[in-house]
Amino acid sequence: MSDRSDAPTTVIRLDDYRPPAWTVEHVALVFDLGIDRTEVDATLQMVRAAGDEPIRLNGEGLELLELSVDDRRLVEGEYILANGLLEIAVDAEHCTLRTKVALRPAENTALEGLYLSGSRESGFLLTQCEAEGFRHITFFPDRPDVLSRYTVTLRADRQRFPVLLAGGNPDGSGELPDGRHWARFVDPHPKASYLFAVVAGRLERISRDYTTADGRAVALHVWAEADVIDRCDYAMDSLVRSMQWDERTYGRNYDLDVFHVVATHDFNMGAMENKGLNIFNAKYLLADPDSSTDDEYRHVEAVVAHEYFHNWSGNRVTCRDWFQLSLKEGLTVFREQSFSADMNSAPLKRIEDVALLRRAQFPEDAGPLSHPVRPSQYSEINNFYTATVYEKGSELVRMLAGRLGTEGFRRGMDLYFDRHDGQAATIEDFIEALGDANDIDLSSYLAWYGQAGTPRLTAEGRFDPAQRQYRLTLRQRTPATAGQPTKQALPIPVRLSLFDRSGRALPLRLEDEARAEGTERTVVLDTAEQHYVFEDIDAAPVPSLLRGFSAPVILECDYQPEDLAILLRHDPDGFNRWEAGQQLAGLAYDDCRDARADGPALLAWTGALAELFADASLDDALLAELLTPPGEIELVERQAERDPDRIRAARQAMLLALALRVGAAPLRVRYEALRASTSAAMDATSQARRQLKRRVLDLLALIDAPLATTFALAQYEQAPGMTDRLAALATLATVAPEQAIAPIAHFRRRYEGNALALDKWFAMQAQLPGADALARVQALEGDPSFMLKNPNRVQSLVGTFARSNPTGFHRADGAAYRWLADRLVAVDGLNPQVAARVATAFNGWKRLEPTRREAAHAVVAELAARKDLSRDLTDILGRVAL
Ligand code: ARG
Ligand code: ZN
Repeated sequence: MSDRSDAPTTVIRLDDYRPPAWTVEHVALVFDLGIDRTEVDATLQMVRAAGDEPIRLNGEGLELLELSVDDRRLVEGEYILANGLLEIAVDAEHCTLRTKVALRPAENTALEGLYLSGSRESGFLLTQCEAEGFRHITFFPDRPDVLSRYTVTLRADRQRFPVLLAGGNPDGSGELPDGRHWARFVDPHPKASYLFAVVAGRLERISRDYTTADGRAVALHVWAEADVIDRCDYAMDSLVRSMQWDERTYGRNYDLDVFHVVATHDFNMGAMENKGLNIFNAKYLLADPDSSTDDEYRHVEAVVAHEYFHNWSGNRVTCRDWFQLSLKEGLTVFREQSFSADMNSAPLKRIEDVALLRRAQFPEDAGPLSHPVRPSQYSEINNFYTATVYEKGSELVRMLAGRLGTEGFRRGMDLYFDRHDGQAATIEDFIEALGDANDIDLSSYLAWYGQAGTPRLTAEGRFDPAQRQYRLTLRQRTPATAGQPTKQALPIPVRLSLFDRSGRALPLRLEDEARAEGTERTVVLDTAEQHYVFEDIDAAPVPSLLRGFSAPVILECDYQPEDLAILLRHDPDGFNRWEAGQQLAGLAYDDCRDARADGPALLAWTGALAELFADASLDDALLAELLTPPGEIELVERQAERDPDRIRAARQAMLLALALRVGAAPLRVRYEALRASTSAAMDATSQARRQLKRRVLDLLALIDAPLATTFALAQYEQAPGMTDRLAALATLATVAPEQAIAPIAHFRRRYEGNALALDKWFAMQAQLPGADALARVQALEGDPSFMLKNPNRVQSLVGTFARSNPTGFHRADGAAYRWLADRLVAVDGLNPQVAARVATAFNGWKRLEPTRREAAHAVVAELAARKDLSRDLTDILGRVAL
């Protein structure tokens, strides 16, 4: 468990980075595994790298049994052990250091280091080391710039632990006395300690043989407990697709003889890229039509790919220090997103990613937890696995890739991997390699990594009929963020097109160009303000700006609703079409909020969508996205002072206007047509139909609740898979709560023992809006399957309620804030990382309307003043309370 906050909090600063004084060339670990007690015998080949400092090893929660240097036992006084550091003065340039320690896996509820997944009787042991878990396993310089070769021997009771796994290639196994056995693994690739992993217990596997493009035979194994092993096939397929894609797209091959993937129900994060032994939260590995939704299938494919891609972007080239975290995470998210775009629909993938950025990263960047993609300081690194480091980090890589073009980016990546293979690198190294390979100076993009906050991009167009010119002025400004009052101009690539009013893209010629070339251009705004003059323009055009979301900024353009409606109808690019729809929906929302029932934006939005609804050539999935306005959380950004009830009411009003405009009959007919083609198939068309069916039913429910209820009841009963079943349940629970009671209870019984399905059952109910939401959540806490010990369960009920139920969580009397505070303290006692993550729900309290703000403030201030909370939670509360 992390230390409590009465221990001194140290702030780690990027500027203080110093290379390690000692490195570890080779480490041999011998584990004697047991659930209550495990002993770890470590032999470290230490080499002095610089200076004359003593050896310093990290170690936390370890019982030190033996310590020797070059075979000489050290006695007390020959070393210092304090504050998680073991210090030994050694004169030589190298030495062999040996420690023996004992740990208590079953008591490890923080799920960091070596811990037990599941029950004492049938569960298995596993490790999670990133970021600083290895120091909970053995004494070691636990920092990513110490790269070592590992030899790992596992010893355990054969009955209780029939499967023994560690990263690297297998190097023998055999019997031991007393029903015990052993297995050894050697990893030829030097790696950082955070990539170490072992797994031991009763697990089943599915296997496949794979041959890499460069001819290596690799055995692929996906491991899970017996009751879920038949839900691993989709993960295996996804793994094979990922391996092939990385060979094709980046020329990267896998580099060991075996690759293991393991599923656990007890995991703090999504998944982990340990070398040769990836470990997954079961939520991102298991998939079957009866218990997984279409979204979850896509997530499994993406996360399997993400972790696999880390083998190069993360493992072969790792991070010098944790400030560089986005070097591997931003890059790997970008690679994962490109993969998913190639496997599915590229525009839909871009829509999904941009929507996530707006929902999760923009609020983070605008609140007290804002930080640059490369933070400059931290007190608890686990709190920096954020949407900013991951999602915004990916957007920064995307901008660089866009600047270089497909081939140039590939050249740059080749050079990056080539130059830094086997090294711990920095973001500067990355940008330099991309630039050097293309003879381009990209260093101005570094500013993006150091500056927090979402830039505002303002666009202003003026048409000059006499000159036949269109003059576009772009300006940028980044609002001050926590601890960063002044901001500089950033290079902002703006991909743009101009449309005439019939929706035709115009040929583009900038003022200094001889002739027009193409209908799309990328200009890079790298000062506070720039003008662009387009020639040969005959009538005021409609600019389509930031195409493909070419930079992670907020665009402010004084569009008229009709302009956006033109783009929404005609833009050939699916993403931009959606984007025009989102912008227009924002204006329509303003109309509803200000009670303009016949506001021009509302009319333009509903009118354009009603037309598109009738357009049979439009893709079902895209139509479903177009019919979805920005969510309550994004709309928050449209007001200065938030009242979640008013935001929801206005959003509901605009949906109602949309449903009325489309009309009850077309909605019913469309629903029935989509229902007729319902199947359990997982192809893109079937998924798109299910998605649209859900949107149509929810719209219908707004104007014909009895009919929608009948449809939803039948859909629940006849659903061939989880997507239709869960959607029907959610619709019912919203439209006809009384009639949802029996199906909700039925679902609960049907999935007894299926943890991931129950998580969805909790999450669906935690999201139901309104005044009785808190009471509902409190009642759900009484369900026998609810437990604070399991991160997924906490996230599905507590996390979903706090983060995705604005009206429920932000009730005006503050009762939900007080409830959450209690739960945070309880969770913190078990698992600080999870408590800290849920606590970020308090992020936006300062911008709430006064009554709620007061209520939230009281709770946050009281929590932040406590001295008995973990470093993780204390760090979040301290920053949120400021
Ligand atoms: N590197 C993992 C990933 O692929 C995340 C692990 C983070 N774990 C943690 N405890 N902070 O994104
Ligand atoms: Zn990652």
